[in-house]
Amino acid sequence: MLNTAPRKILATSALPYANGAIHLGHLLEYIQTDIWVRFQKSRGHECHYVCADDAHGTAIMLRAEQEGITPEALIERVSREHQADFATFGVAFDNYHSTHSEENRYFSELIYTRLRDKGHIATRDIEQMYDPVKGLFLADRFIKGTCPSCKTDDQYGDNCEACGATYTPAELIDPVSAISGATPEVRSSTHYFFKLPDFADFMHGWINDGHVQPQIRNKLMEWFEAGFNEWDISRDAPYFGFEIPDAPGKYFYVWLDAPIGYLASFKNLCDREGIDFDSYWKRGSDAEVYHFIGKDIVYFHALFWPAMLHGADFRTPTAVNCHGFVTVNGAKMSKSRGTFIKAATYADHLNPEYLRYYFAAKLTSRVDDLDLNLEDFAARVNSDLVGKVVNIASRCAGFVKKLGSGRLSAHCAEPERVARFISAGDEIAEQFETREFGRAMRLVMELADEANTYIAEAEPWVLAKQEGREQEVLDICSVGINLFRQLMVYLAPVVPAMAEQARGFLRLESLDWHSRHELLLDHEIAKFKPLMTRVEKDRVDAMIEASKEDLVEEQKLKETPRGPLTEEPIAEEISFDDFIKVDLRIARIAKAEYVEGADKLLKLSLDLGGESRTVFSGIRAAYAPEALEGRLTVMVANLAPRKMRFGVSEGMVLASANDEGIYLLSPDSGAEPGQRVT
Ligand code: MSP
Ligand code: ZN
Repeated sequence: MLNTAPRKILATSALPYANGAIHLGHLLEYIQTDIWVRFQKSRGHECHYVCADDAHGTAIMLRAEQEGITPEALIERVSREHQADFATFGVAFDNYHSTHSEENRYFSELIYTRLRDKGHIATRDIEQMYDPVKGLFLADRFIKGTCPSCKTDDQYGDNCEACGATYTPAELIDPVSAISGATPEVRSSTHYFFKLPDFADFMHGWINDGHVQPQIRNKLMEWFEAGFNEWDISRDAPYFGFEIPDAPGKYFYVWLDAPIGYLASFKNLCDREGIDFDSYWKRGSDAEVYHFIGKDIVYFHALFWPAMLHGADFRTPTAVNCHGFVTVNGAKMSKSRGTFIKAATYADHLNPEYLRYYFAAKLTSRVDDLDLNLEDFAARVNSDLVGKVVNIASRCAGFVKKLGSGRLSAHCAEPERVARFISAGDEIAEQFETREFGRAMRLVMELADEANTYIAEAEPWVLAKQEGREQEVLDICSVGINLFRQLMVYLAPVVPAMAEQARGFLRLESLDWHSRHELLLDHEIAKFKPLMTRVEKDRVDAMIEASKEDLVEEQKLKETPRGPLTEEPIAEEISFDDFIKVDLRIARIAKAEYVEGADKLLKLSLDLGGESRTVFSGIRAAYAPEALEGRLTVMVANLAPRKMRFGVSEGMVLASANDEGIYLLSPDSGAEPGQRVT
C-alpha cells in the first residue's frame, strides 16, 4: 500500500582512503547511510547505494613504497579489507569501486576539459618546498622544522603545536623533509587552478536553497563572505593519480578526482545492471542524489563539488547530509587508551548489530558529535533489543507451538491495538526519512514497552494452567507475535541480520514496509531460536585490550628498521644523557612459551641475575621456544610496563628485522645476566 510513486534515489558515503583500516568512526557514516538506504528500499523506492576506495595521492604512494609494493598492489589489498569489514557490518553497497578506475579517469578528464574549455581553469607558477633527495614536492605536512615564533623544534610545516602560530613552510627555521631528512629547496612550478570565484553567485543560491543542514549553511556563508579562492587542483610528478590532459607531468590532485569517484562507481553499476546513468546525472534530472559525509570534508562536498558539477553541465546533489564525529567514552578516539577501535577488532569480540542499533538510537539529522559510551552501549542494547524486542517473541512462541501446533489464531483478539502498531509506521517512516533515527528508535521502543505490558497484564502463563482457556492463551500470544512482527518491520533497516532471522521465524516472504498491513492469522510460524544475546562486559573489555595491542603491532612496524641505512635514515641526534636513560641489561631467557591466541608473540621469562621479568615479544615467526631457552640476549630493563591482552609485558628484548627474518641480539660468551650494557 504505497501512497507515493516510487522515487529514483542515488545515495553515497564518502570514499575511504585506501591506506588505512576502517574504524568505528568511519562506521558511523556507512551505517547511517546503509540504514537510510535500506529504509528507502523497504518502502519500494528505486535506491542505489555506491561507494569506492579513494586510491590516489602522495600518502598512498609513500605507504606502498614503505611496504615495498606497488600502489596498485596496496590499493587492491586494502579494497579487499575494506569490503570485508563493510560486509561484516551489514553495509550493503550496490557497488564498491575504486577511484583508480577507467570510469573515473573518463569522468575526471571530461569534467576537467569542460571546465577548461569554458575558461574556469587558470594556470600560474607557485613556489613550493622540494625534497632534492626524494625528488618530490612536499606538502606542508611533510615538512618539519623549528617554529619561527616560539623556537620549539620538530613542528609541522603550517602551524606550531606549542604556540599555535601559523606560517608557511618557508618561514620555518632549519626545515627538513619528514620523508628523507634532507633540507628542502624552494622550487617553482606551474599549477592548475579551478576558478571557484566564477561560481560565487551560483553557490550563493545553492547554499541557501535547502541542500544542506542549517549549521552547514551558516559555515558555508561564513566562507562565502570571506571570499572564495581559486583551488589548486594539480600536483607534480611523481604522483599516484591521473595525468592532466595536455599537461605532461601534471596530475589531478586526489581531491579533484575523489568525488568524481561517485559518478565512476555509479557508472560501473549502470553498465552492469542496465540502469540509465544520464537519467540520474543530467541537468534537470528528477532523480534524487544524496551524499553522506563527515563534518571534516564539507568544503570539498558543498563548495567545490557542486560548482564543478554545475560548471561541467551535470546536475548538482539534492542534499549533502553531514554527520559529526564519533568519540568514545567522551573523548577523541585514542590509540593508547584502546578506544581507537578498528572494525575488524570490534567484530572479533562483539555482534556488529549492537553497534548498528546503538548508532541508530543516538543519530539525529544534525551535525553533532556522537559519543559511544561503552557502558551505556551495553545497557541500551541489552535493555532495548534483548530485554524488550526479543523478549516479546520468546514469551509467546512456546505457547503458540504447544497450543496451536505452531499455528497462530485465525482471528485477532486485539484488532485496535494491532492497527495502532501498523499506523505508527507512518510516523516512524517520517523519522527515518529525515534521518532522525534516534526518534524512530524511541517510537519503536515505546511500542515494544506497550506490547510487553499487554502480555504481562494478560498473563498467558497463568491462564495456561487453567483448564479450558487454551484458545485465550493462543489468542494473546498470537497478538504478541503480530506486534513483534510490526516491530521487526521497523527495525529491519537497523538490524538486518536479526530481522532476517525473525523473518525465518515468522515464515514471511518479506518484512518490507508495506507488507505489515496484512495480519498474520491462521499462519504457521517456525521454532523460536534466540535472536540476539546480551552484550557481555568482558567482551567489551577484551575489545579494548585488543585495540591496545593493535597499537603495539603498528608501532613495531614503524619502529623496526626494514632495511639497511640507505632505506632507514638515522634518527635525530640525542645527547649522552638521553642515551643513558635507557637501561640495557644482559638477560638469560629462562623460559619461552607460545601464547594462546597470539600468532606473533612468545612469552619470555628473563633472568636478570637475581631479578626476573616477563616479556611478550613479537618474535614467534623466527624462533621455536625450545631454541631460545638458556640463550643470552639484551633487554631494555626500565621500559614502563605495558598491559596486553595476555598479561603485562615488563620490558623489551632487542632484535632487528627485515623481510626475511628477525634477528635477536646476543652478547659474546662470558657476559652475565644482569650486567649493564652501555
Ligand atoms: N577520502 C576522503 C573522502 C573522499 S569523498 C569523495 C576521506 N576519507 S576518510 O577515510 O578519512 O574518511 C571517510 C569518511 O569517514 C569521511 O566522511 C569522514 O568524515 C568519516 N570519518 C572518519 N573518522 C570519523 C570519526 N571519528 N567519526 C565520524 N566520521 C568519521 O575523508
Ligand atoms: Zn611556536
